[in-house]
Amino acid sequence: MLASPNPEVSVITLDNPPLNSLSHALRSRIVAAIEAVEADPAVRAVVLTGSARAFSAGADVSEFGTPRQLAEPILRSVLERIRTCTKPVVAALDGVALGGGLELALACHARVASAKAKVGLPEITLGLIPGSGGTQRLPRLAGIDIALDLMRSGAPRSADQLAGTRLFDRVVDAGLIEAASDVARQLAEAGAPWPHADRLKLDAEQVDTQVSLARQRLNTRQRLQPAYEALLDAVGASAGPIDEGLAVERSRFLALIGTHQAQALRYQFKAERDSHRLPQTLQVEPRPVATLAVIGAGTMGAGIAICALDASLDVILLEQDEAALARGRQRISDHYASRVAAGKLGVATAEAAQARLHATCDWQALSRVDVVIEAVFEELAVKQEVFRRIDAVARRGAVLATNTSYLDIDAIAAVTSRPQDVLGLHFFSPAQVMKLLEVIRGAETRADVLATGMALGKILRKVPVLCGNAFGFIGNRIYNAYRRQCEFMLEDGAWPEQVDQALTDFGFAMGPFAVADLSGLDIAWRMRRAQAATRDPRERHVPVLEQLCEQGRLGQKSGAGYYGYPEGKRAPETDATVRDLIVQASAARGIQRRALTTEEIQRRALLAMVNEAACLFADGVATRPSDIDVVLVQGYGFPRWEGGPVFWARRQDPARLARELGRLAEEGGHGMRLADATMLAALLD
Ligand code: NAI
Repeated sequence: MLASPNPEVSVITLDNPPLNSLSHALRSRIVAAIEAVEADPAVRAVVLTGSARAFSAGADVSEFGTPRQLAEPILRSVLERIRTCTKPVVAALDGVALGGGLELALACHARVASAKAKVGLPEITLGLIPGSGGTQRLPRLAGIDIALDLMRSGAPRSADQLAGTRLFDRVVDAGLIEAASDVARQLAEAGAPWPHADRLKLDAEQVDTQVSLARQRLNTRQRLQPAYEALLDAVGASAGPIDEGLAVERSRFLALIGTHQAQALRYQFKAERDSHRLPQTLQVEPRPVATLAVIGAGTMGAGIAICALDASLDVILLEQDEAALARGRQRISDHYASRVAAGKLGVATAEAAQARLHATCDWQALSRVDVVIEAVFEELAVKQEVFRRIDAVARRGAVLATNTSYLDIDAIAAVTSRPQDVLGLHFFSPAQVMKLLEVIRGAETRADVLATGMALGKILRKVPVLCGNAFGFIGNRIYNAYRRQCEFMLEDGAWPEQVDQALTDFGFAMGPFAVADLSGLDIAWRMRRAQAATRDPRERHVPVLEQLCEQGRLGQKSGAGYYGYPEGKRAPETDATVRDLIVQASAARGIQRRALTTEEIQRRALLAMVNEAACLFADGVATRPSDIDVVLVQGYGFPRWEGGPVFWARRQDPARLARELGRLAEEGGHGMRLADATMLAALLD
């Protein structure tokens, strides 16, 4: 309890650092505190508050699945106790009020917030809906539009953005407790019954209209997640009597808990946290990072520089000539200009970020930096030359990283006098948006260098995953196996649009052929030409991609690839040329083309991923199976609510999985590496 500015108003302060998660102990203490103030005749009103960091960030995730989560008083009972309190209870919000934390505030008789407080109902991101009145009380207080928006996006909003609604009785810049005490005292003076969200009435017609509109607008990915429909069912009930609405909310909430989507989302949440942790033997102090240099200001270099600027680091951007440097600088200033224009960033913040950028062609500038990230052309000789130059100027102890997609980290490290300081930091495009960061360990990379890579990932707000130094690391290696399988399916009888459709139906953001067209076929073409010399002629290889490239069909940028992109038309078109090439490929291999079902396409594509995941896990390229799922979800558009290929495989019938993997090996033909039962068991355990 805090000393109150007004002796008649008792202040109850939630005290469960760091974020006041609503553990069983805290829930019990709230009820006890309410009972104590009710029993105290000197108290006329109550203020319920948290810390400057958090009113409350909601449920205690460590209680999930334990008896304490469902032990009385559950949150609903706490809220009911507050609602029926004989003295008015005013929530005073600072920091974050999320999920159950916001529901706690919604059940109070009034709310006062500091302008910068952040409120949100993020349950949808875990495959759930608010389960303690949020779907009923938020629409009543904030209006149906804002409520739908907050609950569908799961993203928090600041209190000052919501100041005009009934959600807050007052929004203040300072003096939160005083303001809340004032409101509490006024309520006490006005006398019971205290105001409450449950007594507000919504316009039934407006609720119906908005909810059915929202239902029509659900996109494919949302339709695959039952929480979206459930949310709309619950909000749809908010125009009726509160008890009925709460009952609908409860039944939908309980039905969602056991869905595989909710389990998968919870699993991903935990897997991302785990991926930050290095194995025990590598857990050492990272080296300090304040200044960072990026070499190469192309697509990736500019993106990486933006991440670092946004994280308040000083950035040196180095290019081979003034013209390339000017293009890089332009990329960065265009990025900030568009963020400002879109209202996503203040002018001052954008200027401050760019002021930390030092663009140069002078290699001596590297002499004082803590980390160097190389992002020049993907050619070993070019990268080796760049690393020789870095080695000549960087200070001892600086961490030297390459953003290579496929090259051997050791071959790059070997040209320096300090291979122990070299590692891979594989960002994804666009680097300022994509969260994944593969942190690659070379044969000689020291533990504190890896720890610095992981720590830098955190500073840049990425999800870093430790990978071994093997072709394609984790992500590209699995993606290549997946893509190859999809090409086999073309030869077996499917068309690109059928494969793409089947995989977007599963939940991928895009199908593999649409992705290939978007990123350009020439990258894979170059790689395949390099591999052609050593490829075993008995290996199954579908030549369509090379043939498309030979015809100048490099993907969207050339107006055609696996699809045609006629000028002026927005949707890609299927193309007779592509079909001819595919039919010829089938004939050349003596394949009688047949129709493939959506399920077969989906399962073969996923099994190819699972097989490769088991192989690379056996090879020690990934530390934990869940890291593989993090990579696929964060970097490759794998639907988060399916958890990743490992999570998916764990849900399958083991006998069927083994049978289908056997068939996959037959279809893959000569040289296809199949994970054996032991490898599969190690992955899925
Ligand atoms: P890019 O071609 O857009 O940019 C490369 C830049 O490096 C150019 O501006 C070039 O002038 C500069 N450069 C070349 N040689 C240099 C030297 N000796 N000294 C200084 N600067 C030099 O290439 P992009 O796409 O940015 O790729 C860079 C690296 O990132 C490659 O290793 C690539 O494999 C990797 N990568 C690319 C991804 C993508 O989607 N584009 C994704 C992940 C990694």
